[in-house]
Amino acid sequence: MSEFITMQEINQAADAIRARITLKPEIGMILGSGLGDLADSVEDAVVIPNAHIPNWPLSTVHGHKGRLVIGKLEGKNVIVLQGRTHFYEGYGMGKITMPVRVMQVLGCDKLVVTNAAGAINPEFVPGDLMLLNDHLNLIGFGGANPLKGPNMEEFGVRFPDMSQPYDKEFLRLAREACNEADMPFQEGVYASIAGPSFETPAELRYLHTIGADAVGMSTVPEVIIARHGGMRVLGVSGISNKANLDGSTITTHDEVLEAGKVLVPKLTTLIRGFLAKL
Ligand code: HPA
Repeated sequence: MSEFITMQEINQAADAIRARITLKPEIGMILGSGLGDLADSVEDAVVIPNAHIPNWPLSTVHGHKGRLVIGKLEGKNVIVLQGRTHFYEGYGMGKITMPVRVMQVLGCDKLVVTNAAGAINPEFVPGDLMLLNDHLNLIGFGGANPLKGPNMEEFGVRFPDMSQPYDKEFLRLAREACNEADMPFQEGVYASIAGPSFETPAELRYLHTIGADAVGMSTVPEVIIARHGGMRVLGVSGISNKANLDGSTITTHDEVLEAGKVLVPKLTTLIRGFLAKL
């Protein structure tokens, strides 16, 4: 198999999903580490294990269920990726972002992407929600951009604009949803690193210097693919831990999963409120 995903592989996966569902999804959702339980809120759900979908990347990480949930949330047709795959698992960028292409082929023109992230901004604490208003594609700067390779003209242009990765109208609706629920939220810039090792104190100070508010190991590749295809994106980080800029504390994956328990109800409120306003 080629390093790059082909239209045929995307269509095979889309056909397999289409054969199992009756509704046409309009909104794709990707749930990050510890945040998968949000999929339990989907009504009339059809659940498809990832292993049943041809060419699909299979998650190897604890805290990621590895299935698709298709149904209704706040009256909207959604397709939810409960457990994503990451670059550090060994897959190519094309493979980890393939689900976004498939969502678009199935009919989605909107994407809600969530993740667990470490706080760089000293004002942020574990349990906070952060709406993404921009990102730093540090993996991409290193050469691992998901658009590397032949351009898929079916979706977009060779050199896509990235001036508005996160949709301004979506951000406004998400802020409104939080305010109406009396739920405080943060807003900021998400920096993507490859992982799986967490950052050193010097790396965290560097991220702080270049303007990152939160750091994580996902999301940005999916957002770039979505924007290449013209999908509108809402991005939300669940802050799971404080980044230790002075090296005085350690960070663990268990901590990330534990924070998810506090974050899921908040994220559910935010996303339900947002969907109801769409
Ligand atoms: N760093 C990188 N990725 C993460 C973190 C972190 O502190 N927390 C959750 N994902």
